[in-house]
Order: sequence, then C-alpha cells, then structure tokens
Amino acid sequence: MADRMRILSGMRPTGRFHLGNYLGAGQNWVKLQDEYDCYYFVADYHALTTEPDGHTVESKIYDLTADLIAVGLDPNRSVIYQQSKVPEVAELALLLSMVTPLSWVLRTPTFKEMVKKHPDNVNLGLLSYPVLQGADIVIVKGEGVPVGKDQLPHLELIREVVRKFNRTYTPVFPEPKALLTESPLIRGTDGKQRMSKSVGNIVGVTQDPAVLRKQVQSMVTDVKRTYMTQPGHPRTCNVCAFYKFFFDDWQHYWDLCRKAQIGCGEKKKILAERMIEVFKPFREVRAELTPEIVTRILDEGSEKAREVARHTMVEVRQAVGLPPSR
Ligand code: TRP
Repeated sequence: MADRMRILSGMRPTGRFHLGNYLGAGQNWVKLQDEYDCYYFVADYHALTTEPDGHTVESKIYDLTADLIAVGLDPNRSVIYQQSKVPEVAELALLLSMVTPLSWVLRTPTFKEMVKKHPDNVNLGLLSYPVLQGADIVIVKGEGVPVGKDQLPHLELIREVVRKFNRTYTPVFPEPKALLTESPLIRGTDGKQRMSKSVGNIVGVTQDPAVLRKQVQSMVTDVKRTYMTQPGHPRTCNVCAFYKFFFDDWQHYWDLCRKAQIGCGEKKKILAERMIEVFKPFREVRAELTPEIVTRILDEGSEKAREVARHTMVEVRQAVGLPPSR
C-alpha cells in the first residue's frame, strides 16, 4: 500500500445518493481502489454550512455511507470515514485560514453562487468552505483528489494555500492535484439542470424498483416530439443520453427512436427495467447492511484516518511554532 499514491475525496450527506453521484463520482471512486491508497469520507462538517442542525444530518450520513458501500466502496481496501470524527481537521482548517488571504476566498465561484441562492444564510463557514476542504485533503497528505469540474476552483485555491503554507513555514504538505472525473453532465429528470437533490430532479440508484420506475417515468423526454409517429431526436433527448450509460447497443435504440419505431414511454420503460437489473447487486448489498455494521465501518475508518491526522498535526504544530497538544 505504501508505494501507492494517496487519494482522497468526500461527499456531503445532503440526501440519498443518486444517479448523478454514481455516474459522476461513485463509480470512479470504486475503480480507483484498484490503483490508489484511497481515503473516502462523508463531509458532515461541510453539510453544516447549509444545514446547521447536525441531528437532521444523522440519517443522511447513514444513507450515504450505506449507499457508497453498496455500490462498491470496500472498507478493506479504502479508509471510509466521517469527517467530524477526525476533529483535527478543524484545527488544521483554522491554521490554514491564517495563510489564506481573504480576497482568495471571496472570489470563489461557489461562494458567490451561495450568496445569490441563500442571501439570508451567508455564514463564515460558507466562506471558509474551501479552506476546510483543503484541510481534509492535506491532513492525510492526499496527493490526488478525484472530483468533478465544478470543484476545480476549490482545488486551485487549495493548491495556492498549500504552497503558501509550505513557503511560510516549512514544506509539510504535498500539493494536491485534481484527478478529473471524465463524466459528461448528468441532467436530472427535468432534462435541463444537473441532477441534484436540491433541485429535486433525481433518479436513485439503490432505491426500490418501484421508486426508480416512478422517477424514470417522470423524466422529460424529447420536447420536439409530440407523437410517437414523429421521428425522435436522440442527441438532444435526455432519456436517450441515459441509454449510453446503460446499454452497449445504445445506438440500436437511438436508431429506433430516429425512425419512430419506439415511443418515449416505451424507451423509459426499457431504461427503468435495465437500471433496475444493473443495480440489483447494489440493492442486495445495501439490504444486508445494518446501522451497526455501517457505524462500525465508519468508526474503524475514522480511527485510521485520525491516526494519520494526529501525526500530521504534530508536524504542523511544530512547523507553525505551537506547542505539542499533548
Ligand atoms: N466540496 C465537495 C463537494 O461539494 C465535497 C468535499 C468536501 C470534498 N471536502 C472534500 C471533495 C475534499 C474532495 C476533497 O462535492
């Protein structure tokens, strides 16, 4: 393990894991386990930036962890943990904030978006969100960070903060690099916006078949096609876009659609049944998990991550000029 490059990524527990999470991140995280020394965590501190009551996050932490394990994260190969169970990360975020110019965080696009979206809840935690994210990464000396494009501004900022820290004190941290997940934009059931829990346009992964059927049936299809007898436009139809992920012979279905030999409702039915079949093994694993098992996995993973974090903090305190904490 020691000669493998260490990578790290996290996800906020904001709701049930959905197809966008799976195709955009989860699937990739699972594959990376073959090649890297992987640290994956549930970012519950980060969730508090928009949802300050931790009690409401509790069940979401369980769901997200169980879903990640169900789709293939393996606690025997990856360290799977809960961010807040490694409180050293909060101290490191504080220390990183001392070398982070305010202007750098003020220009973060995600922060500007949040200010626009939730003008009534612009807290300091939201502003320092990427600094905490940087602490997540460097506390385990993560070198690679599998993320989607939307996270690139954070990664750029984090690299600058890390460089500044290393320059101001002594080089303690490697500069983390983004490992870009090659995934096209996954649109939600509305066919317009990126699939997201907060938009409410999601299709599940580990949920019951009945739920998946309903969600797929609710998908907006080819808006230019009113009747089944009209030819469809698979290039712009979101349902057809999903076929690319679930069928090796997706072109066959695209052809049928172009020739008006298959209707939108039928396409959705076939897609839903295929997804239900593909995700069957995930549902089976998920059904075997219990709160006890998941809690044990998170506790054990968090203890491992914490051990690494404690070591890093000894170095960090020394570098900054603080006394040992114990
Ligand atoms: N900001 C990430 C997101 O919204 C979640 C996250 C928190 C993260 N800490 C991280 C991702 C560290 C990668 C590394 O998706």
